[in-house]
Amino acid sequence: MAKLLDLSIDFCDVKFPNPVLLSSSPVSNTAEMIGRAFEYGFGGVAYKTLGFDNIKIIHPSPRMAGYTYGSNNLIGLQNVEQITDRPLQDNLMDIEYLKKHWSNHVVIASIMGFSEEEWIELAKMAAGSGADILELNFSCPHMTVEGSGMKVGQSFGLIEKFTSTVRNVVDIPILAKMTPNITDITEPALSAKKGGADGLTAINTVRALTEIGLDDNVPKPNVAGIGAMSGYSGPAIKPIGLRCVTELAQCTDLNLPIAGCGGIETWVDTTEYLLCGASLVQITTGVVHYGYRIVEDILEGLSYYMEEKGFKSISEIVGKALPNIQPTDRFDLSRQGVGEYDLDRCVGCGQCYIVCQDAGGQCIDWDYDKRRPVHDEEKCLGCMICSFICPVSDPPLISYREVKNKKSVIPPVSE
Ligand SMILES: Cc1cc2nc3c(=O)[nH]c(=O)nc-3n(C[C@H](O)[C@H](O)[C@H](O)COP(=O)(O)O)c2cc1C
Repeated sequence: MAKLLDLSIDFCDVKFPNPVLLSSSPVSNTAEMIGRAFEYGFGGVAYKTLGFDNIKIIHPSPRMAGYTYGSNNLIGLQNVEQITDRPLQDNLMDIEYLKKHWSNHVVIASIMGFSEEEWIELAKMAAGSGADILELNFSCPHMTVEGSGMKVGQSFGLIEKFTSTVRNVVDIPILAKMTPNITDITEPALSAKKGGADGLTAINTVRALTEIGLDDNVPKPNVAGIGAMSGYSGPAIKPIGLRCVTELAQCTDLNLPIAGCGGIETWVDTTEYLLCGASLVQITTGVVHYGYRIVEDILEGLSYYMEEKGFKSISEIVGKALPNIQPTDRFDLSRQGVGEYDLDRCVGCGQCYIVCQDAGGQCIDWDYDKRRPVHDEEKCLGCMICSFICPVSDPPLISYREVKNKKSVIPPVSE
């Protein structure tokens, strides 16, 4: 790997060698796996959610289904996996081992109790095994045990209660892992803060159905003839993750550090989460798709980005986009524009013509002899659908140009 800038960051008073972590899932299931991920460059881990052995977890088979759209493999991942099925003692020993052999790396123990007593005992045991931080899993959308996972995350009283239960028995920082399956994510986050959370992780999976088999009428993953509403992850949910992180970061009453999660595969995704207010990122589906090695490109990309933009530390990036994310009524509607065409590079596919006729402002006509669009600027709405339908990119063939006092859009003031 190329020589990197200092990518370290302090989060809840814990120093991370870099902001890229494994999220709690099968990618963070054992010390052996996590050790390999650390070797590749991950700065920390949210260990697969621990639970007590009294309720035996048996994972369905199959437990995941990749969602392919067109030629894009794994744009999403549907899973019905629950918390760990490994014995608690084995997991605690693994956490102890990791802290002994990777002392500069951060181990976050994710926990889920099925009663107040279990939250207390799990928290004490995980902290006792040397975990640096606890992450309270209030957000798995498909737990089979009543009153657990997302059911807690949707019930603000329970979030506050279980967070304060854990707060009262451990000294290490506590993160609440939030569900996106809620109307306003800031409300449960405020309850977590009231209960004593030091930070937040957002988001867990989106409750969804991705595909129904047309021959057997069963959603995927098809578990012996039955599917279920369950957790959806991967690039398809990145926009939801970014939205949730932004809402949490913009909530001034909260003012808590955030670990961003959902659809991160590249350094660009990572940087976007940082810009929206996350100080760390966590990854599962990106690793399911490409393996732990994705972290090498992420760290290199981050380092180059910092160098190019003149950032001296990761924390300088955090939240940089927040002032630019505003309610839509803050748009300056007096500023309008049009599409500008570089027809020398046009391949004559006609997509811009079709989309403008059927979904835009009918400002593009088609010259059948030359096989080129004929664009009428006066009629152009500046909606720019043509630009993202056009297959010629890098730089885009169709770009945006602002037009002063655009007559076709702005009604005369006297009207
Ligand atoms: C198969 C699978 C199992 C998961 N198990 C857990 C879990 O035990 N605890 C937890 O907090 N999140 C769990 N998650 C959610 C992930 O940690 C993460 O929040 C989510 O997948 C979004 O990130 P991604 O798009 O990078 O996968 C699981 C996700 C998947 C795909």
